[in-house]
Amino acid sequence: MRDFDDEVAARVAGNAGDAPLQGAVRSFLLESIRTQYSYNFAWLGRPIIQYPQDIVATQELIWSVKPDLIIETGIAHGGSLIFSASMLALLDLCEAAEKGTVLDPARSARKVLGIDIDIRAHNRGAIEAHPLASRIEMIQGSSIAPEIVAQVRQIASGYRRVMLCLDSNHTHDHVLAELEAYAPLVSVGSYCIVFDTLIDDMPADMFSDRPWGPGDSPKTAVTEYLKSHPEFEIDKAIQHKLLITVAPDGFLRRVR
Ligand SMILES: C[S@@+](CC[C@H](N)C(=O)[O-])C[C@H]1O[C@@H](n2cnc3c(N)ncnc32)[C@H](O)[C@@H]1O
Repeated sequence: MRDFDDEVAARVAGNAGDAPLQGAVRSFLLESIRTQYSYNFAWLGRPIIQYPQDIVATQELIWSVKPDLIIETGIAHGGSLIFSASMLALLDLCEAAEKGTVLDPARSARKVLGIDIDIRAHNRGAIEAHPLASRIEMIQGSSIAPEIVAQVRQIASGYRRVMLCLDSNHTHDHVLAELEAYAPLVSVGSYCIVFDTLIDDMPADMFSDRPWGPGDSPKTAVTEYLKSHPEFEIDKAIQHKLLITVAPDGFLRRVR
């Protein structure tokens, strides 16, 4: 296994300087954003607005961190909440198998907390009717409103290992405010994933109907936040491995 891991690490490191590969990646990202590729997938029956590569990377992180709380801003149809809930259910299943005990989902403390400014009734209904609903709590409101931040902090205080995914409003100011509000809740060794940092690397005219774009994006917020928060570092190995990701420089590991 050691040799295998070393080979993977060497291959991943090589990707970063592989010009033909990086060129192919950029072409794919440009064309797939144009054709709204990320809207074509579902997780356990709910639409998930993500690239499959990012879903796999998040699975790897959840397995290594083993969080007991995942906080997500941006619910939409609920696919990412259901994904996180399914991963937490698998963690509990594996833990029970290791201990030789029977899984009792009612007793699991592992939860997903989702925040969205507008949880549409049909989305809320479908999420609440999902078999994994008991692991999910939703709060409606702006993720940067003081009363919402206070509620999330209160809930998070009952958990030991916290992971964070930011995927709501993608402007610089909004993401920076989310980082200031929620990144301190991320446990040491865990991750904050800032989605859609890719916006900063794309042509401005791709986002002409949006309040965000290159220069005013999740990536500019991450850059600003990291200037005064050395407790987080960008885990570049993840983006070098994925190649296809909407979160370049967005996988932040809490190191202290
Ligand atoms: C890209 S979608 C989230 C996708 C979801 N995470 C997934 O993977 O399927 C963005 C969501 O952010 C929500 N949103 C926009 N502004 C927000 C704000 N200020 N606070 C919280 N949520 C917001 C929108 O209502 C929308 O549902």
